[in-house]
Amino acid sequence: LSETGTSPQDLAGIAEEVARAAGRLIREQRPTRVEVAGTKTSQVDVVTQMDLASEALIRAELARLRPGDGMLGEEDGLIPGTSGLTWVVDPIDGTVNYLYGIPAYAVSVAVVSGEPVPGSWQVEAGCVHAVADGRTWTAARGRGARLDGRRLEIGPAAPLASALVGTGFGYRSRRRREQARVLTEVLPRVRDVRRIGSAALDLCAVASGQLNAYFERGLQPWDLAAGALVAQEAGATVSGLRGEPAGEVMTVAASPATHEALVALLESVRADAEELPDATEPAAAG
Ligand code: IPD
Ligand code: CA
Ligand code: CA
Ligand code: CA
Repeated sequence: LSETGTSPQDLAGIAEEVARAAGRLIREQRPTRVEVAGTKTSQVDVVTQMDLASEALIRAELARLRPGDGMLGEEDGLIPGTSGLTWVVDPIDGTVNYLYGIPAYAVSVAVVSGEPVPGSWQVEAGCVHAVADGRTWTAARGRGARLDGRRLEIGPAAPLASALVGTGFGYRSRRRREQARVLTEVLPRVRDVRRIGSAALDLCAVASGQLNAYFERGLQPWDLAAGALVAQEAGATVSGLRGEPAGEVMTVAASPATHEALVALLESVRADAEELPDATEPAAAG
């Protein structure tokens, strides 16, 4: 597989080790008041010092443990490697929760072979570590998913009308306007909707039964790499719409029958429709 022949299970162990180390940093050095260090794609897309510190720690650890591998992180981009493997890392998924002291945030670490692009990659292993309560999901390709070491198997499919459905919203107002429209179609047709605030935890919640389904538009590679493998290895179907792989246009995760019904609904309401320009946001802001 890699230059060192490491198995997906070994890689999952490394992902977990690194995610836990970053989690300790985030927990122990959480300032009493977390400050915004900057904004990114819009005014509400914030980054804190701890996002940067967490990614720096993960980069240093992986450079030490896996010197030939590439690394793609949310805050510092891609450094290509030579082994064919790339680590795909979200140093804090759920930054807004972290900022407000809401405990739903996680470190997400995955390793992929092939291009580090959803749809082209094969996710070999991943770990999602919920920093505040310590819950840790791991998955190795073909070897199942685990929560705190206990094997996960997704429950029976829920009819859409009784499904608890997670979703999330991007940071740009144009996209949010579209997402609000889609929500008006979905909400009346399901048990209820949750906006937990961490895509990685949403995908893991599908794997361990806290959500029956999850969908979101606009996810980036680091949001979904580890969580999608956890969901899949627990028995969920994870995809986009119209036969596309999961990715930025759409990610839908649920047990197979629920997934099919949710995909049909999202297709029928054109949840992947092009966004309309929005007067409240200059086009240049992305
Ligand atoms: C965000 C979270 C959120 C999702 C956004 C992501 P961040 O990641 O996963 O739940 O709705 O699309 O950008 O910025 O907290 O790492
Ligand atoms: Ca972010
Ligand atoms: Ca994220
Ligand atoms: Ca992040």
